[in-house]
Amino acid sequence: MSARLRIGLIGAGAIGAFHARILAESADAELAAICDVDVTRGRDLAARFGGAAFSDAAAMFADLPLDGVIIASPETVHAEHARLAAAAGVPMLIEKPLAPDLAGIAEIRATAKAAGVPVMAGHVERFEIGAAQLKAAVAEGICGRVVTIAARRQFVAADTPRFKGLSTTLRILGVHDFDLVAWIHPVPVVEIYAAAGRGRIFEETGLDDHVMTTIRFADGAIGLVESGWTLPASYGVFATPASWSPAGNNRLDVFGSAGMVSNDMSLRGQQLIAIDEAAGFRAAGLRHQPVLNGRVTGALAEEVAAFLRLIRDGGEPIVGLDDAERAVRLTVAAEASLASGLPVRLDG
Ligand SMILES: NC(=O)c1ccc[n+]([C@@H]2O[C@H](COP(=O)([O-])OP(=O)(O)OC[C@H]3O[C@@H](n4cnc5c(N)ncnc54)[C@H](O)[C@@H]3O)[C@@H](O)[C@H]2O)c1
Repeated sequence: MSARLRIGLIGAGAIGAFHARILAESADAELAAICDVDVTRGRDLAARFGGAAFSDAAAMFADLPLDGVIIASPETVHAEHARLAAAAGVPMLIEKPLAPDLAGIAEIRATAKAAGVPVMAGHVERFEIGAAQLKAAVAEGICGRVVTIAARRQFVAADTPRFKGLSTTLRILGVHDFDLVAWIHPVPVVEIYAAAGRGRIFEETGLDDHVMTTIRFADGAIGLVESGWTLPASYGVFATPASWSPAGNNRLDVFGSAGMVSNDMSLRGQQLIAIDEAAGFRAAGLRHQPVLNGRVTGALAEEVAAFLRLIRDGGEPIVGLDDAERAVRLTVAAEASLASGLPVRLDG
């Protein structure tokens, strides 16, 4: 293994571009290759951050010795890319959701296990300080017996057309919170019921505008996961300050018999806002990939650092296949409920 870990990236899109920059800025890694079926996109990203550009993942693994790969392609092709990584013996960090369905998770698990290659799941919220501190507080018993856990994730719909025909609102947004809710309250889920509001976003992209999912746990606690694109564009589409990326309207609350814990990243709880006469109001997203002293920091950089440590030191991934499978199981059940209009029973 070289001094710097040689990492490949598959998928040079919205999140892949941040992974590329984080790898390029890391003292522990070298961005060795970028693969994207969109040749121009892959080449452009490689020109900015380094690495050889490929349009075919099999060719990338055949041509280059890699110490790890970040798979940031759409989830419909994650299993295919995981199979190639496993065959090449390359540890992988796979963006959420790991797969669109449980068959995809099983395929990733089988190929990785047969090759003895570690898989880390890119559930970025596990590396967000507020979510992690909330989890620790609940685990310490601050809330007493958990009664309600509610998660809201709402963004503007500016970038949703790229998911048309490829994904769903619950796979893009909901899966983050299904993972968080089940991680914070690790009790079997026995029932899920989801309902969607459909409007302009649905007409334009086929994605549900806003989905409300209720979750019933085996111990009687209830959860609510809210996933929507229903923030007005003026909230999160802005050009200045150029270094800011937009915030969402996100919130995670746990209420119990003895207390509550709340991680408020909502409209009224934004830490950094700006208002000027030219562009009005905007709020900065400081959690996932803010730039500090010229480098991307925050939860996504923490996630990549954890992946690099996993490659170098071994051990168990901070978020592994079992957690990724649980999140996908809840997502699939919520989608089945949306399709039928009925609650879906789970066996826990
Ligand atoms: N962790 C997060 O917060 C976060 C944020 C955004 C996206 N994601 C996840 O990351 C994945 C990608 O999302 P995105 O928003 O970057 O999408 P995107 O559409 O912006 O980028 C996907 C890229 O993959 C490329 N691609 C498609 N098929 C390919 C193939 N077979 N081989 C190589 N490249 C291929 C596309 O050309 C595109 O450039 C999704 O699973 C999404 O849910 C996670």
